[in-house]
Amino acid sequence: MIVKDDQSVPDNAKRLAQELIVNDKVNFLGAGLTPSAMSMAPIATEGKVATVVMVSGTSVVTERSPYYARTSFTLGQQSGIIANWALKNGSKKAVSALSDWAPGAEAGKVFEANFTKGGQILDTLKVPLANPDFSPFLQRAHDLQPDTLFVFVPAGQAGTFARQFSERGLDKSGIRLIGPGDIVDDDDLPTTGDALLGVVTAGMYSAAHPSQLNKDYVAAYKKATGHRANFISVGGYDGMDLIYHALQQTKGNTNADTVIGVMRGMKWESPRGSISIDPVTRDIVQNIYVRKVQKVEGEPWAIEFETFPAVKDPLKEAAAVH
Ligand code: PHB
Repeated sequence: MIVKDDQSVPDNAKRLAQELIVNDKVNFLGAGLTPSAMSMAPIATEGKVATVVMVSGTSVVTERSPYYARTSFTLGQQSGIIANWALKNGSKKAVSALSDWAPGAEAGKVFEANFTKGGQILDTLKVPLANPDFSPFLQRAHDLQPDTLFVFVPAGQAGTFARQFSERGLDKSGIRLIGPGDIVDDDDLPTTGDALLGVVTAGMYSAAHPSQLNKDYVAAYKKATGHRANFISVGGYDGMDLIYHALQQTKGNTNADTVIGVMRGMKWESPRGSISIDPVTRDIVQNIYVRKVQKVEGEPWAIEFETFPAVKDPLKEAAAVH
């Protein structure tokens, strides 16, 4: 296994993918963030290299190369379910605050499509992706007096968001905070104190998922890294697992058409629960859990209380119908 750092710069990802194929003659590639996964796609296609998308959450990414399969998630999978949960539980007026890039736009699009079936969106606020200061957006959201605040921030920003959320007193304002799983990232949760207690999200992974496989995964991850396993880690773990299962089936044949052929429809058990690769779209099909942040033994965890089984990417589903 060769690990390269693209520093989240799409041009670097493209160049590195090219070098890995031409110089290192790799049999597989792994793709990360949406912009990098987008820029690598033509390289994977031309080089005929099966590629597992392990981080990106944007719907269109898997359509950029016939050799892409995804083990991460889409924002749409989670955002529609939390919109429905909020409506069912009395939310009527919402403000969205979205990190201003493709995954944020998709989270907002699916949330709004579902929420407006019974509720109203007062405003959609776009928060810069780089070095975000959430304070002005939180102030604006507060001033609009919604009953519900829907927030998407990407992995790595939940800690800063939680701190500014409680500094502004929004945790005590009575406004219900909801979102896809990213705002309660397990990597940050242990440091958020009481700021996110009671927050309800729809997500594909919680380190508190009560299966033996997950308990073992969380313990092994902690031992290896010192951190609590999070939703990004499980996309990587399952991506490697997918490659392993595919190679078992092809008996070591790495031809991209053969590999993607066996990945289509593959179903297996992940620390997050049962997952599969959609045979048509090569995208991940997974359970989405509704979770509430609660303190267990002194630390906040996202505790699952409702399961939506085998959820597909709703944006691809919508496109297929029309
Ligand atoms: C991405 O699409 O690259 C992405 C989405 C959500 C995250 C992190 C990365 O939390």
